[in-house]
Amino acid sequence: MQATRHNSRQAPLVITVTGGKGGIGKSNIALNLSLALQQQSQVILMDGDLGLANINVLLGLDLKRNLSHVLQGECQLTDAMITITNGLQIIPASSGKKVMVDLNEMELGGIIHAFSQYTQPLDYLVIDTAAGIVKSVGCFAAASHEVIVVLCNEPAALTDTYALIKVFKQDYNISRYRVLVNMVDNDHEARKVFSKLTTVIERFLDVSIQYMGYVPYDELFRKSVQQQKPVLMHYSNSRVALKFKDLAKQMTNWRLQSSVSGGLEFFLERRLSTTE
Ligand SMILES: Nc1ncnc2c1ncn2[C@@H]1O[C@H](COP(=O)(O)OP(=O)(O)O)[C@@H](O)[C@H]1O
Ligand SMILES: [Mg+2]
Repeated sequence: MQATRHNSRQAPLVITVTGGKGGIGKSNIALNLSLALQQQSQVILMDGDLGLANINVLLGLDLKRNLSHVLQGECQLTDAMITITNGLQIIPASSGKKVMVDLNEMELGGIIHAFSQYTQPLDYLVIDTAAGIVKSVGCFAAASHEVIVVLCNEPAALTDTYALIKVFKQDYNISRYRVLVNMVDNDHEARKVFSKLTTVIERFLDVSIQYMGYVPYDELFRKSVQQQKPVLMHYSNSRVALKFKDLAKQMTNWRLQSSVSGGLEFFLERRLSTTE
């Protein structure tokens, strides 16, 4: 049955999901948020972890075409898209191709530019990214209207996140972040972690960080990853799935900033303006 779509957005909202290190849940969060958002919107989830494809593995899919074929001109962006549900399509990355890790900024820009040929209704483009301070991540984040930084309750995660935000500010002039705390027990713990980050950020960096919420630690999550069955699809009434639905509901209130042009060509405009 075709789901009812709101299609409330004038232009797609581009959201990068990133974080200071690997293994903190970025890919699972990008996937489950996309699955929650697609219940009322049209979503594309792009696997921007260009060297180590994740999203297709989380979904248990073995795919023939991916972003590297698009960049090499072997197929169109739409040929590499896979329909997961009525509202969600994914664009997989390639795994183990060094050439994809070493893309220059124009090539990275080309990825987003390819979206300008995408004419179907679209509400959200969600980009999952590689861990840490990597050029591709900075470029994707600079291309986005919203940057979600995933954080967990570990001292190293705090220092890595601080370093990431510092570099993104210096090199890409990204000055607004939303922080999502993963693998904690409750909101209280999440806010404590967030306030530790706020203390150092406010003291040393001229950026704004906003608490987005938290995702609880849940063994079901690990099980679902092992089974290659996303929690939101296969354990849709679990605590963690309900949390993703709440977060997605909150995201539907995110508006394009009036100072940015919006649309998918936003990437190149912004990149060019920061490299001049
Ligand atoms: N909220 C959570 N509760 C329990 N385990 C989690 C949670 N979030 C992530 N994980 C586990 O952490 C591992 C790494 O997640 P992943 O999304 O691949 O991280 P990243 O993309 O940051 O490298 C996964 O195997 C997953 O099971
Ligand atoms: Mg990942």
